[in-house]
Amino acid sequence: MAVESKVNRQATCSAPVNIAVIKYWGKRDEKLILPTNSSLSATLDQADLKTTTSVALSSEFDSDRLWLNGKEESITNPRLQNVLQKIRSLASERAQTDEEKAVLDAHVHIVSVNNFPTAAGLASSASGYACMVYTLAQVYGVTDYELSKIARVGSGSACRSMYGGWVAWNMGTRDDGDDSFAEQTHLADHWPGMKILILVVSDRKKGTSSTSGMGTSVRTSELLQHRITEVVPKRMAAIKEAIEARDFAQFGEITMRDSNQFHAVCLDTYPPIFYMNDTSKAVVQMVTQYNTMKGEVKAAYTFDAGPNAVIYAMEDAMAEIASLTSHFFPSTTPDTFFRGTTTAPPAPSAELL
Ligand code: ADP
Ligand code: DP6
Ligand code: CO
Repeated sequence: MAVESKVNRQATCSAPVNIAVIKYWGKRDEKLILPTNSSLSATLDQADLKTTTSVALSSEFDSDRLWLNGKEESITNPRLQNVLQKIRSLASERAQTDEEKAVLDAHVHIVSVNNFPTAAGLASSASGYACMVYTLAQVYGVTDYELSKIARVGSGSACRSMYGGWVAWNMGTRDDGDDSFAEQTHLADHWPGMKILILVVSDRKKGTSSTSGMGTSVRTSELLQHRITEVVPKRMAAIKEAIEARDFAQFGEITMRDSNQFHAVCLDTYPPIFYMNDTSKAVVQMVTQYNTMKGEVKAAYTFDAGPNAVIYAMEDAMAEIASLTSHFFPSTTPDTFFRGTTTAPPAPSAELL
């Protein structure tokens, strides 16, 4: 007589956010989340802005459920469903024992918490989906797969948080997305002394989500088309060279120009989208004046789809920048994030229970 297998598996993992210096903005396939251009970012240290996710899988559960920041959310979110489906189909391909087969019928409970504002332009979708995919993969035993491809279908920027250090998301050319994944270009300790400062100008939920904003840009912005074909391919190559050579002046100029162009695309979108506010613009001016005073690019700003400022600088310059920001922007909440020690891949860390 066959004994019915019961399963009870559980894991808790955390994953940090990443901040792009060459921005992803635009999809060529909205369901598979295939981008219109490649992008490049640095992943923060585990100790900084991060998501922590616990997944429990049990034959005792009667449905899949999700809690985000302490509140139950609908599990029917299509992106979440796509992620779950992909993980389960990989698990099904690998299932051999009765216990492994029973896993396929069990339900999951997912509990996720961000230690920073959600949906405020601080890349919560990146750490959020990276962490979810990584934790699910532990529980379902599918860590041998290129997980950045699954994180990508949760949120594009999430594929880059699967690795530490400097990470490129190569857009790929295939229609099935099999060549659209993230890869680490340099370890974090390749460039000792590099620091990232995040100024939380506003922790409110943004008015236009990244998803809907970039959809409108793809449909309406001519500047985006120019960016995709002419600008980003050259910048991807140039910024990799600058990182390889640890050339801050080059790196900083490309970073600021790319942020500027991304926000110019938002203005060129019809109707226009404004993510930066007056405080954001004042940060741009402060960094610009600082660099003019130094006679060289020593600090670089970049803004995602929100008003919050991120400043890249080397340790010595960052000490000055930090005191300038607390003087000029006393109401922002500055934090210095050290990225010296991450040697992943992968960036997310797991604690199997
Ligand atoms: P952000 O700038 O914070 O990345 P987005 O508009 O890109 O903002 O994405 C925000 C959305 O990402 C949230 O509304 C939520 O659906 C999803 N998200 C954020 N954090 C998590 C998480 N920890 N787990 C699952 N989904 C998350
Ligand atoms: C400006 O990854 O949040 O931060 O793929 O629709 O979830 P979806 O969008 P998302 O977009 C991030 C845009 C950006 C630039 C970047 O991180 O590269
Ligand atoms: Co996002």
